[in-house]
Parts: sequence; C-alpha cells; structure tokens
Amino acid sequence: MGKRLGALEGVGEKMNPRFWKNKKVFITGHTGFKGSWLSLWLSLHHAKVRGYALPAPTDPSLFAEAAISSRLDSVIGDIGDIGRLQQAMTDFQPDIVLHMAAQPLVRLSYEKPVETYQTNVLGTVHVLEVARTVKSVRVLINVTTDKVYENREWRRGYHEADRLGGWDPYSNSKACSELVTDAYRKSFFNDRRQLSVATARSGNVIGGGDWARDRLIPDLVRAFSGQTTAVIRYPQAIRPWQHVLEPLNGYLTLAEAMWREKNEFAGAWNFGPPPNLSKPVAWVADRMAQVWPEKAQWKATGDKHVHEAQNLTLNSRKSATQLGWRSLLSIQETIDWICEWYIARQAGQPVAEITERQIRRYEALLKARGA
Ligand SMILES: NC(=O)c1ccc[n+]([C@@H]2O[C@H](COP(=O)([O-])OP(=O)(O)OC[C@H]3O[C@@H](n4cnc5c(N)ncnc54)[C@H](O)[C@@H]3O)[C@@H](O)[C@H]2O)c1
Repeated sequence: MGKRLGALEGVGEKMNPRFWKNKKVFITGHTGFKGSWLSLWLSLHHAKVRGYALPAPTDPSLFAEAAISSRLDSVIGDIGDIGRLQQAMTDFQPDIVLHMAAQPLVRLSYEKPVETYQTNVLGTVHVLEVARTVKSVRVLINVTTDKVYENREWRRGYHEADRLGGWDPYSNSKACSELVTDAYRKSFFNDRRQLSVATARSGNVIGGGDWARDRLIPDLVRAFSGQTTAVIRYPQAIRPWQHVLEPLNGYLTLAEAMWREKNEFAGAWNFGPPPNLSKPVAWVADRMAQVWPEKAQWKATGDKHVHEAQNLTLNSRKSATQLGWRSLLSIQETIDWICEWYIARQAGQPVAEITERQIRRYEALLKARGA
C-alpha cells in the first residue's frame, strides 16, 4: 500500500497552484479538448508550458477560440516524427511530461485502425523513448482511458489490477499503450534515474469546448443549437461521465505526488466518478434537453452500429485513498456547467473567459469541499 499523499510534507490533496509556478511542463495533445483545458489551467498558475501536437482536430476548437497558443509555447508536430519530438523536448528540458496526444475516437478507429495504432502505440513509444534521453524529466504521465480494460459487461467498477483488453482498435491501442509504458518503466526507469512513470485512466470526459464528431455532448449541442433533433446511438449504454476538470485535477495531483516520491506513485491510476454516478446515454441526453433554453430533442437511431461496450464504470478507490482525489461535481452539476459553457459562447461571451471562470469556480469548490 502506498503512502497517502496528505501524509507527505507540504502536499495538499488536490492540485496545488504554488507547485506549478515556473514548472516546465511538456504536454502532447495541447491543441485538443482536454489539452486546451489543461494548458489554460496551468497558464493561470504560471507554469511554463510547451505543447506538441498536430493542429486542433476540430473546427471550431477550444484551442483556437480561447487563443491557447498565446499562453504557451506551441509546437505543431506529429508524434510519429521522433526527430522533431526529440528536438522539441530536448530544447525545452521539461520537468514533467503529460502525454495526451492520441486518436481518441472509437468509431474513427474502425475506419482508420492503422493510423490509430500508429498514433496511440508507436506515438507512446516515441514519447517514452525521447523522455529516456532527456535527463531533466522527472515525471511522465501517459493519459489512457477507462476503455483499456477487457470489458466483461460487469456492473462493478474496473480497478487497476483488472485485465487489460480492448475490443475495438481505439480501446485496444490504448491497452497496448499501457503495456508499452509498463515495459519502459520496468526496462529503463526502474533504476537510479529520477524518472517516475504512471498511466492515468479517466472516465468519459465531457465539458464545454468539445467539438469532436460522434461524441454525445458535441452531437447534442450541434443539434440543439441548430434546432434539429439529435440522433443518438446506444441510448441504454452506461458510461462513467465526468467533467473534464475532474480527471485533470487527478493528473495534476498525481504529478505532484510523483515529483515528491518517485517510487510510491509510479503505476496505473483510475480517475473515474463513483460507479453509482455512471448513467445511461439517454439519461444524459434528457437532462441536457431539459436544461437547454430552447426546444431540444433527441431520438435513438435504428441503424446498426459497430461494437461498443454497454456497461463501463471505474473503481477509483486507489486514487481516493492514496492521493485523496475524488470527483467534486454531481452529474447534474456537470451537465449544468456544460450547458452554461455552450450557451454563454452562443451568446457571444469570450471562450477563454468562460473557460477560465469555470476553472476558478472549480478551484473554489476544491478549496471549500476540502478535496
Ligand atoms: N475525451 C474523453 O472522453 C477521453 C476519455 C478518456 C481518455 N481520453 C484521452 O485523453 C487524451 C485527450 O483526448 P481529447 O478528448 O482531448 O482528444 P482530442 O481529439 O480533442 O485531442 C487529441 C490531441 O492529440 C493530437 N494528436 C492526434 N494525433 C497526433 C499525432 N499523430 N501527433 C501529434 N499530435 C496528435 C491532436 O492534435 C490533439 O491535440 C487522449 O489520449 C484520449 O485518449 C479522452
């Protein structure tokens, strides 16, 4: 059993803004949905961030609308290009690497399995290989997903020791990325080097600023704001929904812990909502439609679809007991925050301001709830 984070000197049980001031953080995937939220959050606390990613994967994008590139040193490059990645990391000499660049969509992975494996598996090899040679790196977190577990359609939450698997190319490539990380940890980082390596598995992450195709929230927002009926796949599928700030708080808390205690916190970590907060797709769509200020409706499509797991929840007891991490927002609060974000944007409020306001509110909650 690892040491509990709160027991370590000078460490709180949540993301600690003072820790991040002037830390050099190398983020892959900074132009994406989660990467943009993370970059904005770190910039508020004066971390020195260099991002490495392909251009923003959607239009519109949070990256462009919140002018994230003005807050960090943005390098546009492919993680398939190991030479360029090497140069970007070597020049920067980061303290911490947060690896989030990926092809993250299940349905696209059926259309483009080779690209998905190239990006998600070989890309992870490249990030680890480069970090191996850049001696300044002390912490590396590989962000994977709840879908890395061999899905047995269990109602109980999967925990870190459960078997890895993955039916579709996306889930499977992320399970491979976990195995690659484990091999690198054992083969290269299990020595005198001060480099701690972990993987982080979050739930189904939702929040303002996501515009990906074939994801529930962007699909609903596009339909609702266009006054059309949203078409939903798998309305009965149960997912561990969570606001994007929840796992990001988990990654940052974990990074701080790893910084201080290399060996105690290396390994795999789940950051999901409590299993009883996992809800069916239809439930989320109904609540979104209720909160949305205009007429909003959805229907289930009768089309045949590619295989996706129906039941999926995470057991995050390890993060709770050893890091003091827990989810703060209820599923209803999460939906309220998301609607607020998209409605404010639609009303013309600056996207950076809306996003920053929600980060500040989340930090106030962290403080108030003593999480
Ligand atoms: N959104 C979710 O529900 C969710 C849940 C669990 C885990 N994740 C993981 O979190 C991470 C971020 O997800 P997201 O939702 O922000 O995805 P996103 O599609 O919004 O962002 C992906 C990022 O990866 C970059 N990228 C893709 N291919 C690349 C390549 N070959 N070289 C360099 N950069 C490349 C994109 O440019 C973008 O910056 C991913 O690793 C994903 O698997 C996401």
